[in-house]
Amino acid sequence: MHQDFLDRKLQERFQKNAYRHLQLATGKKDFFSNDYLGIAKNGLIEKALAGNSFSHGSTGSRLLAGNYPLIEETERVIAKFHDSPSALIFNSGYDANIGLLSCIAERGDTILYDKLSHASIRDGIRLSQGQAFSFAHNDLEDLKNKLRSKKGQCFVVTESVFSMDGDMAPVREMLALCESADARLIVDEAHATGIVGNHGEGLIQYEALHHNCFARIVTFGKALGCHGAAILSGELLRNYLINFSRSFIFTTALPPVAVAAIKTSYEIFPAMFAEREQLKELINFFRQNQTIHTASGKTFAFKPSGTPIQGLVVPGNEKVKAVANHLAALEMDVRPILYPTVPEGEERLRIALHSFNTIEEAGKIISALKEI
Ligand SMILES: Cc1ncc(COP(=O)(O)O)c(C=O)c1O
Repeated sequence: MHQDFLDRKLQERFQKNAYRHLQLATGKKDFFSNDYLGIAKNGLIEKALAGNSFSHGSTGSRLLAGNYPLIEETERVIAKFHDSPSALIFNSGYDANIGLLSCIAERGDTILYDKLSHASIRDGIRLSQGQAFSFAHNDLEDLKNKLRSKKGQCFVVTESVFSMDGDMAPVREMLALCESADARLIVDEAHATGIVGNHGEGLIQYEALHHNCFARIVTFGKALGCHGAAILSGELLRNYLINFSRSFIFTTALPPVAVAAIKTSYEIFPAMFAEREQLKELINFFRQNQTIHTASGKTFAFKPSGTPIQGLVVPGNEKVKAVANHLAALEMDVRPILYPTVPEGEERLRIALHSFNTIEEAGKIISALKEI
């Protein structure tokens, strides 16, 4: 069987230095995972659940055999914590975004989304019947202009903490624009859940905007140290999703073992105050070292970010890989983010900070960057 068409495309990736391959954890200092609070690394969920056993099989989709008391109880726990009328669990954040955005807009409706939105948001929009336009990243003027030409029902989508840049959306102003234009705001809180807010409730709730948001997406595979996601919304949208969201309907539900982990994480992360404080110290340290002047006379700048995601732009796949290798040789595991994951020229080191990282380790990274 000829498979040249596959090889041709892979060769293109090779030539652009953009070939992706799977890597195992190196055992070096973790500056790349999304386990911001160390819940997974420290086995906190396993410890809390020790001695309990849960089934690994949900045996069907939620609408058939896969609904069970623990999953409904966990949805109530999640909804209560996030002060939301309801929560609906999806198998992942990717599934939640795809499932929501593909079904929410009908022909003649409009979706406006931040240009830097995660692939799962853009993929969901691609499956939608509505017309979609991006607005410039965090640009309120551009959003305002695009809102003027909306048609039908209009949905505005953003992330509260951007996954690649680590900056936050001006959600209060965005919501005001949405309200004045009769549009509905949807916010992906994947990287804010567990991190932003006194109890890790996320940016929207911290800013007390949640009652006016159409939907929030919280994910459990990052700071919460387990897996899955939920859409927080009114009861009506929850019922709509159960009826129309294909990534909810046509998939086997998460098994009890995964749902017990989610429920346990909600018993753990809200009280991780010391861990969130340590993150703040690390973030401040990086904010004091925003520009790197290297020994070879180059200057690199961090993307402005007040979150655990710190991006140092090092243009060019080859160059950013070389800098990551330099850090790896010093036992610091920082992963390069390559084109086409980010636009050409925006390749970067994505330094993810964790409560278990130390200021000394962070200092080692900054010193090493100055050596290049
Ligand atoms: C902003 C954002 N939304 C959604 C997702 C997908 O979440 P999950 O990993 O649970 O599928 C990610 C994952 O990286 C993300 O960064």
